[in-house]
Amino acid sequence: MSNLYSVRDANIKGKKVLFRVDFNVPIDLVTKRISDETRLKAVLPTIQFLLKKKAKIIFVSHLGRPNGLFKQELTLAPIASALENLLKKKVSLVNPSIGASAKKVIDAMKPGDMVMLENIRFYHEEEKNDSTFSQKLASLAEIYVNDAFGAVHRAHASTVGVTSFLPSFAGFLLEKEVKALSPLLLNPKRPFVMIIGGAKIDTKIGVLRHFIDKVDAFFIGGALANTFLKAQGYDIGASFCENAKLDVARDIMMNVEKSNERFILPHDVVVADNLQSSEIIDLPLEDVEGDMKIFDLGKKTISRFCVLLKTAKTVVWNGPLGCIEYPLFQNGTRKIAETLALSKATTILGGGDTLDALKKFSIKESSFTHVSTGGGAMLEFLEGTILPGIKVLLKK
Ligand code: 3PG
Repeated sequence: MSNLYSVRDANIKGKKVLFRVDFNVPIDLVTKRISDETRLKAVLPTIQFLLKKKAKIIFVSHLGRPNGLFKQELTLAPIASALENLLKKKVSLVNPSIGASAKKVIDAMKPGDMVMLENIRFYHEEEKNDSTFSQKLASLAEIYVNDAFGAVHRAHASTVGVTSFLPSFAGFLLEKEVKALSPLLLNPKRPFVMIIGGAKIDTKIGVLRHFIDKVDAFFIGGALANTFLKAQGYDIGASFCENAKLDVARDIMMNVEKSNERFILPHDVVVADNLQSSEIIDLPLEDVEGDMKIFDLGKKTISRFCVLLKTAKTVVWNGPLGCIEYPLFQNGTRKIAETLALSKATTILGGGDTLDALKKFSIKESSFTHVSTGGGAMLEFLEGTILPGIKVLLKK
């Protein structure tokens, strides 16, 4: 999909650029500081390019899901100051983001100045992709650039609506993500393995269904695996399970060969009474019962996954394979991450929790072919549909 309108070809010299980024980053509730700057650093190449062209940059982002209401804990203020630190340049927060006062601040900007509009989801019109709101947002600038790969699966005013009112272009991060992920849709090198973890089935259904007859193996871990195991008839004790999704899980597995070689679930697990427990047991799945709760992959499952990964030529991974917030339950995720970091295969990782895992284990992102800034966006992109925020930037 190299047929995106690119910021490289835009006439941006000295212009006001509405720059959509995905600065939906984790904020530490106590220190009120950003705990992971990956998404900020990922757009630096586009920022530097815009600054070189003496553009006036107007950052637009969402943070969290405030549902159209102002929420102090979701202000972009800590993000503006983190960006200032990274760029060693002033980034003023503009609040309210829309209207006469915002326009006044923006009209007073000089070439190379930067401002950040307050959390765009403080307006309920944003998620509704409201046309009047989109037009007001667009009226602040002369050009629109989207680098928010993590948000292109959302048809919102700041990802889709504004493009009806401004010449619109993709930033370098968006181009890089599309370039790295597109080959997987066509011709992945085989064996092609997909590792899916995390807790909830909903966000993974699409990708599981899409790839079920395209991958050579699915490895399933995390709490997600519990739902599949229960759907297969295993006793999972008191483990987290999405009981309302058992039929969905059964339906997905019905499409898989009976051989059990393509849809690989844990066959041994680490259990404890609760997450704070210091007593953990690694036991075969058949022995799980009563109050036991599954929090990680067992050693035999980990080594089976690792052995199979050694022969894989393409690996896509989204979602942790255990409760990695707790050191006792990090083993599965850590071992898989370490194995992939050494692998010669094409390795594609994505999702906030997966990035967090790399950080926890001090594994460099450069150890992998591509680490996507998108979570849901990466999965939906891989489902093969053209995402709304990308569709509007495609050359006709
Ligand atoms: C993400 O973190 O995946 C993106 O920022 C999208 O966030 P959303 O799921 O709240 O739309």
